[in-house]
Amino acid sequence: MWREVLRLLKEKKYIPPQRLTAQLNISFNQLEECLLKLKNLGYQIEEDSYLGYYLISSPDRLFPWEIKYNLSTQILGRKIYYFENVESTQDIAFEKFYEGEGTIIVAEGQSKGRGREGRRWLSFPYKGIYFSLILKPEVSYKFSLISLLLSVSIAEAIDDAFGIKVGIKWPNDLLLADKKVGGVLIEGYKRGEFIFIVAGAGININNERKELPSCGISLKEFLGRKINRVDFFKKILESTERNYVLFKKESFLILEKWKGFNVTLGRRVVAISGNQKVEGKAFALDKCGYLLIKKDDGKIEKISHPQIFQQNFKIFW
Ligand code: BTN
Repeated sequence: MWREVLRLLKEKKYIPPQRLTAQLNISFNQLEECLLKLKNLGYQIEEDSYLGYYLISSPDRLFPWEIKYNLSTQILGRKIYYFENVESTQDIAFEKFYEGEGTIIVAEGQSKGRGREGRRWLSFPYKGIYFSLILKPEVSYKFSLISLLLSVSIAEAIDDAFGIKVGIKWPNDLLLADKKVGGVLIEGYKRGEFIFIVAGAGININNERKELPSCGISLKEFLGRKINRVDFFKKILESTERNYVLFKKESFLILEKWKGFNVTLGRRVVAISGNQKVEGKAFALDKCGYLLIKKDDGKIEKISHPQIFQQNFKIFW
């Protein structure tokens, strides 16, 4: 019931208690309980003796009902699991393999946030956005493109929300001023026809300098102002869904979009995969999103996607 009270408070500037109780068919006592619950969750609600209740502010929390409020997606966010703190949202997503496509696991903080290549992902509580999406695409050969898809979608959401263009270092590191503002980790498994992808992303949003590694940057640090994490998260989900729908029809289009943010192609790179080291000029992506490197002897090496099925991989320049 408190969610209904919240919805009405969000819709109107002031709303008299009589209107709330009548519209929701509840007693004044029940209304008081709802308001108390909302205040305990961190909502600031003012009461004016003439005009009624007024929602002053919502808490800086990624509550599922806040994310779903006016969210325009059909698939992503159909179900959202919210946690204050978890070891890793990726692990929770794997436990929920039975859930439908588009289920989201989001946490305010992670004690063992996982990055690529076995690295840690620092997940300062209430400062970033840390989430994992459950995806169940149909055709397996396109999986490697999903990590490009998620990084492109986050890049587009940043452009849309703040008018700034991030760079994407292959395959999916999001860079601002040459520092990492976000990263994507794709894990999954396939058994027979059953395919399960967990697409995770961590984005530094309101972190202060001391809450970031030296190679990291937050949107707040770059823009010089605090960001509304809920609004921005919605934009990420909307752009991801748009791209996902497009991808299901024309998977190669994501490659074109990725190139618009690329900061890898055209540069010299050293790619390390297991005990193999490949050095040369990164010059193209193939249709699966794999990186093509032209070595100094003219030979071309293909670097396959590192995240899928947790292969060990490193790339840097
Ligand atoms: C990277 O750049 O190395 C990838 C970082 C991915 C971090 C996110 S945070 C949410 C999800 N849960 C995890 O444990 N990792 C991913």
